[in-house]
Amino acid sequence: MRHMGSVAIAIDGPSGAGKSTLARMTAREFGFIYVDTGALYRTVGLFALRRGVDTKDREGVAALLPEIHISMRYDESGVQRMLLGGEDVSDLIRTPEVSMAASDVSALPEVRAFLLDTQRDLAKQYNVVMDGRDIGTVVLPEAKIKIFLTASPRERAMRRWRELREEGVDTDLETVLRDMERRDRNDSSRDIAPLRPAPDAVMCDTTDLDLQGSFGLIRDIVRGRL
Ligand code: DC
Repeated sequence: MRHMGSVAIAIDGPSGAGKSTLARMTAREFGFIYVDTGALYRTVGLFALRRGVDTKDREGVAALLPEIHISMRYDESGVQRMLLGGEDVSDLIRTPEVSMAASDVSALPEVRAFLLDTQRDLAKQYNVVMDGRDIGTVVLPEAKIKIFLTASPRERAMRRWRELREEGVDTDLETVLRDMERRDRNDSSRDIAPLRPAPDAVMCDTTDLDLQGSFGLIRDIVRGRL
C-alpha cells in the first residue's frame, strides 16, 4: 500500500566512505528500511559479465535490459538480498570484477533510467535510508535529509582492503587504492548523474572518525531534522 507520508534519508558519497554500514545502522536506529542502490547496479553488471557483453558497450548492455529480472527481498534480520531471475546473487556481486562492471554500466543512461523507478517506488512505500551516488541529487531530490559522506582516498582504500581481507580476498592495499581511484574517476566524471553532493546535503568527512564516531555524527544530524 502506498504510504503517503514516507520519509527519506539520502546518503551519497564515494566507495569506501562507510555509506552502507552507516546507512544500515541509521535505518536500524530509526526503524527505517535500508536500501543499498549500488547492489542494483552491481546486479546489472553481473548479468552483463555473465552474458559476455562488454560493460562499457552502451547498445550491448541496453539490449540486455528487457531480459533482466531483478528483485530485492529482506531476510529475517532485515538484510537486503538481491535476486537475479530468482537466484540470490547477494554475495556474487561483491567481487572487484563486478565492482568495476557496476561502475561501467552505471554510466549508461539506459541503465540509470531502468533502475530509477525501482528506487523511487521503494521510497514511496517505506521510510528509507537509501545510499548511493545520486540519491540526493536525482533519485530523491525531495529527501528530507541528505548526507554526503567522504573520507580521504587512502583511508577509504584501507577500509575496503580490510573488508576484502576479512572476506578472504587476497589483495594488496595499493591495488585496492588504484581500483578505487579509477572507480571514483568513472563515477564522478560521467555525464549522467555524476557523484556530487546535492546543494542541500550535509557534508560528513569520516577520515579521522571511527565507526561509532561517524554514526554519532549522522544520528545527531538525523535527530535534529526528523
Ligand atoms: O556503492 P557500490 O560500490 O556498491 O556501487 C557500485 C557502483 O554503482 C559504483 O561504482 C557506482 C554505481 N552507483 C551509482 O552510479 N549510483 C548509485 N546510486 C549507486 C551506485
